Amino acid sequence: MTKQEELKKEILEKTKEYYELVHKPQQTKKFVKGKSRVNYAGRVFDEKEMEYLVDSSLDFWLTYGEYSKKFEKELAEFLGVRWAFLVNSGSSANLLAFYTLTSPLLKDRQVKRGDEVITVAAGFPTTVAPIVQYGAVPVFVDMELTYFNIDVTQLEKALSVKTKAVMIAHTLGNPFNIKAVKEFCDKHNLWLIEDNCDALGSTYDGKPTGTWGDIGTSSFYPPHHMTMGEGGATYTDNPLLKKIMLSMRDWGRDCWCESGVDNTCGARFSQSFGSLPKGYDHKYVYSHFGFNLKVSDMQAAVGVAQLEKFPTFVEIRKKNFKRLYEGLKDINELDLVETQPHSDPSWFGFLMTLNDKATFTRNEISEFLEKNNIQTRNLFAGNMLRHPMFDSLEQGKDYRVIGELLNTDKIMNDSFWIGLYPGMGDDAIDYMVEKIREFIVK
Ligand SMILES: Cc1ncc(COP(=O)(O)O)c(C=O)c1O
Repeated sequence: MTKQEELKKEILEKTKEYYELVHKPQQTKKFVKGKSRVNYAGRVFDEKEMEYLVDSSLDFWLTYGEYSKKFEKELAEFLGVRWAFLVNSGSSANLLAFYTLTSPLLKDRQVKRGDEVITVAAGFPTTVAPIVQYGAVPVFVDMELTYFNIDVTQLEKALSVKTKAVMIAHTLGNPFNIKAVKEFCDKHNLWLIEDNCDALGSTYDGKPTGTWGDIGTSSFYPPHHMTMGEGGATYTDNPLLKKIMLSMRDWGRDCWCESGVDNTCGARFSQSFGSLPKGYDHKYVYSHFGFNLKVSDMQAAVGVAQLEKFPTFVEIRKKNFKRLYEGLKDINELDLVETQPHSDPSWFGFLMTLNDKATFTRNEISEFLEKNNIQTRNLFAGNMLRHPMFDSLEQGKDYRVIGELLNTDKIMNDSFWIGLYPGMGDDAIDYMVEKIREFIVK
C-alpha cells in the first residue's frame, strides 16, 4: 500500500468512527412518545454517505467527475431510461426540462414565447415557474379530489392552437392519470414533462413515473425520497432531447467534452458553425442560450450511496402509507388520498382533506398536531394563482385559467399532509394516528 492509500484508508476509517459517534445515535434514536418530534421528512444515511463524500473531497476534483458519472448511469439504470443528467436542484431540473423544449433544433415542435403549456395550480411553484420565466403561457386546469392530481376531463377544454406541452407533477408520489394524459399528448402531438420530484420510485402499469413522458425530473433536496443536500436530475429516452439538455445544462455549448477533457469529437479545430471562422475551437461554440446547472462531485458521491439504499427507502414509504391509511380510514371527517389505479406509489407524504362533516378547520388540526410535536405541511402553494407572484401577470394574456379551480381552492383551504419517510418506525406512525384520532374522534 502506498502512503497515499494508507492515509486515505485511515481517513475513511476515522470518518466511519465519526459517523458512529456523532450521527449514528441521531439516525437510530428511539422514538419517545410525546417527546420525540415527528418530522415530515429528513435525511436517512449511514457511514457510506460520509465515506463517499470524504473520498470525493480527497480526490479534490470538485466539479462533475467519477461519482457524477456513476450516479447518472445508475439512476438511468434504476429508471430504465437511456440518459439521466445531474443538476443542482429539482427546480433546476424543471428549468432545464422546460428550456430543452425551447430549442430551435426541435423545429416546428419548439416551444416559442406565447405558446401554451397545460399545468395545474395546486403544487410546487417551480413546476410552473420556467413556463412563465421563458414567456410561454401556463394554462391552469383544476385538480380532482380522489387522487389529488390533474382533472383529466378538463384537458380538451384547455387545448388551443398554441398548446405545445403538458408539464405537471405526480402529487406527493401518487401518479396522475398517466394513461389519459399520455393519450391526450399523443393525440395532439404535445410534449409531456413529468415533474417526478415527489415520486421517485413510483410506478404506473409497472413502469417508473418520470419515464412515461418526454422528460422526467427529480429533486434530491433533503426531504425528498433520497438526498444529496442540493441536487436534482432530468431524464429522457429521446436522443435529440438528450443532446439539447446536455448543451443547455452546460453553458449552452455545442461541445460535449467532459470537464477536464478536450477534443472528444476529434474535430475540435476543423468544423464550421454559424458565421464563425472555419475551425473555430469547438470547445467554445454555443448552440443554445444555456445555463450552468451542474453539481459538485461531492454531492454526487452522497447520491451514489443513497441510491444503494433506495429500494429499501421505497418499501418503507409504502409500508408507512399502509399503516397510516389503515389507522385513519374510518374517520368520517377526513378524505384520505386514494392510490391512483394501475399504480404503485412511492409516497412522499400522506395527504388528508377535511370534508363537509368536519367541525374544525385545517389550521386547527395542523396547529394541534404541531403542538404535539408532529410536523404538518400544506400541499405546497395550495393555489399558486393566489400568491403575490401572480400580481404582475395578466389573466388571458400571461396565463389562462380553465373554469374556476374550485377543487384547487378546496385543497388550498382544507388539505394537509404528514410524513411517512423511512426515518419513521411503526411507533411514530401509530403516534400520529393516535393524535389525529384524539383531535377528531375525541
Ligand atoms: C413537485 C416538486 N417539484 C419541484 C420541487 C423543487 O425541488 P428543489 O427543492 O430541489 O428545487 C419540489 C420541491 O420540493 C417539488 O415538491
